[in-house]
Amino acid sequence: MSAAPNPVQPIPILIVPHPALKARARAVTPADAAQLRDLIPRMFAAMYAAPGIGLAAPQVGVGLRLAIVDLMPEEKPAPIVLINPEIVAASAELATREEGCLSLPGHYADVTRPARVSVRYSDPEGARRELSADGLLAACVQHEIDHLDGILFTDHLSPLKRNMILRRLAKEQRQKQAR
Ligand code: NI
Repeated sequence: MSAAPNPVQPIPILIVPHPALKARARAVTPADAAQLRDLIPRMFAAMYAAPGIGLAAPQVGVGLRLAIVDLMPEEKPAPIVLINPEIVAASAELATREEGCLSLPGHYADVTRPARVSVRYSDPEGARRELSADGLLAACVQHEIDHLDGILFTDHLSPLKRNMILRRLAKEQRQKQAR
């Protein structure tokens, strides 16, 4: 007899203005290993269900320096787990792309960032790795690392644009709760 596999429960994603989204996360230590084993699959389940291409632990209420990314190249999963990621080099050249965020559902804006970055991080097995990214991946890892410092993509916009998005989002969330 075989039991059905236990499906991984997606972890709920917090929506702006939840205060956890503005807090600086602390470094992951070996003592966090058990929590990470449970958390990482639940974060991937939430990200793929949304769907999204990146998710940081503070977005699910966990104040650890952990983020996941999957650009799904050619529709195939290519998961990346970034533990204690650090940008160690950034190009002087900038690039502007439209960004969105699972914590600000339905809202998008152009954000300008370094076009290329190198990121040093640990993988779930504890190996130190380095990733050189350009294009969408570069924007995505910078966006996710920002989350670890309580920074949202709207913080890169002019106050006028930022407030417009935040006001619309707040109104939509009120209407959603009223339904
Ligand atoms: Ni985001």
